[in-house]
Amino acid sequence: MNSKHAIVLTGAGTSTESGIPDFRGPEGIWTTNKEAEAKAYERYDLFLRDPKSYWEEVLGLKGTHGAFYNEVKQAKPNPGHYALSELEWWGLLKCVITQNIDGLHLKAGSRNVIEYHGSVYKLRCPSCGSRCKFERISLEKLPPYCRCGGAMKYDVVHFKEQIPFDVMEMAEKEALECDLMLICGTSAVVYPFASLPRAAKLGYESKAKIIEINAEPTPLTYEGVSDYFIQGKTGEVLPQLVEMLKK
Ligand code: APR
Repeated sequence: MNSKHAIVLTGAGTSTESGIPDFRGPEGIWTTNKEAEAKAYERYDLFLRDPKSYWEEVLGLKGTHGAFYNEVKQAKPNPGHYALSELEWWGLLKCVITQNIDGLHLKAGSRNVIEYHGSVYKLRCPSCGSRCKFERISLEKLPPYCRCGGAMKYDVVHFKEQIPFDVMEMAEKEALECDLMLICGTSAVVYPFASLPRAAKLGYESKAKIIEINAEPTPLTYEGVSDYFIQGKTGEVLPQLVEMLKK
């Protein structure tokens, strides 16, 4: 692989083989539960309006959403995650940019991971941008407050919430500098994340080559943004890719 700067973009499809459902696939959460999707679109407004009720919801003290975060925290990496961390250890992969909030890339040993939609293992203060580990904050009194005085929320980025500037900047820089981009397990319909492959095609040095691995074609496939499309499960295809590179 004569790439000098390869990166990978991942979505919920890379974690379905770890038992976490995706959102828009045939068994996806939004596909099978329209009410949950409608609630997800209200969550950030709820935080802005009433952070205490927001916390009661995300902790599962009210409603069912808290259970999803707990389920996510129980999950284990699958062979697809381990294959990507192995490519990074070989120095063939520079960075993972993920939409997943499950922390499974880090659990699998990947190090340079940009969590574009945040993490269930962290809290963030939208006022000053600071983040901290979940277990470092007492949740006896809700909402938890930041040292700056702002109410803290889950680090997870909800619909209608801006992507934190630091994360967006790092991801764009990687997309513009890469010469090879793997895209794994995403429907590529959520922006601004879905703009990263298009940015890679406008890259500083060279127009990056894009390899897409997904269970079904996406707008990136149909619009010819990806140069190669491999239809399959990431937990099967990525380990095969590693085996091929070992030969
Ligand atoms: N291997 C490959 N592809 C898979 C697998 C698998 N094992 N399982 C599912 N897929 C595919 C699905 O067919 C679908 O095309 O992965 C894609 C997952 O797409 P989405 O469910 O839309 O997930 P994602 O693209 O990550 O969603 C983006 O939307 O709901 C928000 O914030 C949430 O980060 C999420 C964002």
